[in-house]
Amino acid sequence: MGINILGMGSYLPEQILTNDDFKKFVDTNDEWIRTRTGIQSRHMSGWEPVWYMAKQAALDAISKAGIDPGDIGLVICTTVTPDFLTPSTASIIQYELGIENAAAFDLNAACSGFVYMMDTARRFLETDGSMKYALIVSSEALSRFMDYEDRGTCILFGDGAAAAVIERSDKMYSSFLGSDGSGARKLFARNCSVAPQVKVESDFDDGFPEKPVHQLYQDGREVYKFAVKALPKAFRSAAEKIGVTSADIDWFIPHQANIRIIETAAKSLEVSTDKFIVTIDHHGNTSSASIPLALCEALENGRVTRGQKLALVGFGAGLTYGSVIIEY
Ligand code: UT7
Repeated sequence: MGINILGMGSYLPEQILTNDDFKKFVDTNDEWIRTRTGIQSRHMSGWEPVWYMAKQAALDAISKAGIDPGDIGLVICTTVTPDFLTPSTASIIQYELGIENAAAFDLNAACSGFVYMMDTARRFLETDGSMKYALIVSSEALSRFMDYEDRGTCILFGDGAAAAVIERSDKMYSSFLGSDGSGARKLFARNCSVAPQVKVESDFDDGFPEKPVHQLYQDGREVYKFAVKALPKAFRSAAEKIGVTSADIDWFIPHQANIRIIETAAKSLEVSTDKFIVTIDHHGNTSSASIPLALCEALENGRVTRGQKLALVGFGAGLTYGSVIIEY
């Protein structure tokens, strides 16, 4: 069973930060950021909470889908930067939008979140015949979790939200979800400090680089090495299940982390970079929101059209990776 995307929506914060703006915090320059990452500017939430951005994106998606919110049976939200540890951002969206008859929960697979969420929602739709529509929302404000003295990381991330209303369909579909937890130390943000007197049986907590709580740490070079392998692997693993190849795909919509990762993956998959939707130049890396923001923009400017085959491919902290192949 596949899915049909009925409508997508997005929200980008009003405030925009250019590369030059970062010169106020760190020793950097526009040329380095453009050539090493492909980023020129990114949005940064100022007054907008994560749930608010999520709500605006969801409202946009519901309006484009032209459905009654009362027919939504499931709300999932992905975020690594929730305003509240609990309740879930999905529960806030559900309340704010008056979606009365829905289950609601958050899902965290870091930057792979949208892919994980789409596949999870599809499984709900497949197994619960009474569920008509699912609302899936990604909303992130990484700017609040940056170390503004770490020039290799703070320049990368942007904020924003995007959402989709989906229903079950018999269109082509495949997915692959993967994880390698041994890479936890390469990309993380702690939520609380570890009490040193507490002894646990696992040595999992050992060996993490020092970083204050609520600040993102990334070993850029190591994550880069992972990403250039994970992206083609995730696509191929999903594609092989249904006997398609990269030549069958009209558009690749990858996680927007670094233009060089996208170019290397395109080479590995033997497809032109012209088949990749790229928004990193004006969005930066918006974690789980990056894939739906890119897809939403491609729908709005008419690049992606009905009947086309799309490969959504994510990778990120966990380390996680995954892909869904759909027909739009
Ligand atoms: O969404 C989660 C997934 N994340 C990713 O996929 C990120 C993957 N990693 C990357 O995209 C890249 O590794 C970065 C963009 C983070 C870094 O690029 P890089 O080409 O790997 O740079 P580097 O860390 O090897 O640093 C090269 C040089 C260093 O200087 P020295 O030691 O060679 O003198 C850095 O200090 O560039 C320096 N540098 C900067 N210079 C100016 C690092 N950041 C900056 C900066 N401005 N902002």
